[in-house]
Amino acid sequence: MSNKLRWGVLGGGGESLIGVLHRVAASMFDSYQLTGAVFNPDFEKNILFAREIGIPTDRIYEDFDTMVARELELPEEERIQVFSVLTPNFLHFPMAKKLLESGFHVICEKPMTMNYAEALELQEIQNKNNNVFALTHTYTGYPMIRQMKKMIAEGAIGEVQKVDAQYYQGWINPIIHDPSLRSTTWRLDPEKSGISCCMGDIGVHAYQMLEYVTSMDIRSVLADLNYLYEDNKMDIDGTVLLRLNDSAKGVLRTSQIATAEENNFSIAVFGREGTLKWDQENPNYLYLLKEGKPAQTLKPGHDYNSPVSLDGTKLPPGHPEGIFDAMGNIYKGVARAIRGEEYDPMEFPGMRDGVRGMKFIETVVASHMEGNIWKTL
Ligand SMILES: NC(=O)c1ccc[n+]([C@@H]2O[C@H](COP(=O)([O-])OP(=O)(O)OC[C@H]3O[C@@H](n4cnc5c(N)ncnc54)[C@H](O)[C@@H]3O)[C@@H](O)[C@H]2O)c1
Repeated sequence: MSNKLRWGVLGGGGESLIGVLHRVAASMFDSYQLTGAVFNPDFEKNILFAREIGIPTDRIYEDFDTMVARELELPEEERIQVFSVLTPNFLHFPMAKKLLESGFHVICEKPMTMNYAEALELQEIQNKNNNVFALTHTYTGYPMIRQMKKMIAEGAIGEVQKVDAQYYQGWINPIIHDPSLRSTTWRLDPEKSGISCCMGDIGVHAYQMLEYVTSMDIRSVLADLNYLYEDNKMDIDGTVLLRLNDSAKGVLRTSQIATAEENNFSIAVFGREGTLKWDQENPNYLYLLKEGKPAQTLKPGHDYNSPVSLDGTKLPPGHPEGIFDAMGNIYKGVARAIRGEEYDPMEFPGMRDGVRGMKFIETVVASHMEGNIWKTL
């Protein structure tokens, strides 16, 4: 009998953006067996998609509630063990809540919930049981991001004095100027997306990444957001000033109307003794700058990398690995946690990242709405 984890999927159907990333990631280390799903609210489409990807349809359910009820009727050794929640944002909280309360492990897409109050409620539920909860801030799975975090923690660039995260996309530009398109895109609908589009979708990745690589908490923020049109209720661009402590400060720049940009996410951390820089569109290069010395380029798979970085590299140096591999590394860590094996907590983001992320989104929107003022996180 297979010792793979029995894995359920919610959302992530054929037409979705993120489903394929999770399916490939889950299959990467042979740890998960796709056992059941509600890929789509339309049952017929759901079944068709299951057939298309070649999985049995006996555990493809009509809806989420039916799925949980029917799985709970099964003996534990047959029941799904871990679910991935890949639906639009407004479904993350009700699904994750019910799954945790019913004893399942959860892998959840970001933003974790619709607001901070829900995030705190979810945290309380998880605190009561020992279920694994992972939040897929995908980019933390890159080997060179893990290396960056380790190097900063070990003092490679000295005390952090400035951080800079940029996340520029252009995909909303063709949508925002067309009134019918901007009123029918779920990410611009507060009922489905939450109180923020740009900060909730990509600003939160940049924020989590800054806290992840520096191992520091951002203490306060001052935001200036852009909505472009009066009838558009969601920010689609914004700049946030950051304070990490009394001396370390920074900036987070995000946009979904940065015309023709694709997924231009970059991060730089400036320390007293040097700088580390990385960018998502070229994720296998980590740049180390030191005063008076030639710039160094660090790459995955070499012995100079830390064990947790090397653990995220499958092939010898020079074989480029990308976003599928980064998500695969997150799934690998989650499998270890579920099986009770040893793992490094930096292998996957979790509940704390989700709670702080939701606080960030709410605080940034409040800072803007209240007249671009400093707010404490
Ligand atoms: N980690 C990342 O880097 C990353 C990247 C992209 C998207 N995301 C997140 O992933 C989530 C999904 O984004 P997407 O771009 O794939 O969205 P999408 O609109 O492309 O797909 C959403 C999927 O959810 C399904 N769905 C909708 N309602 C459902 C229901 N009631 N039950 C079951 N399935 C349902 C749809 O059929 C579809 O398959 C979002 O929360 C988004 O923020 C994360």
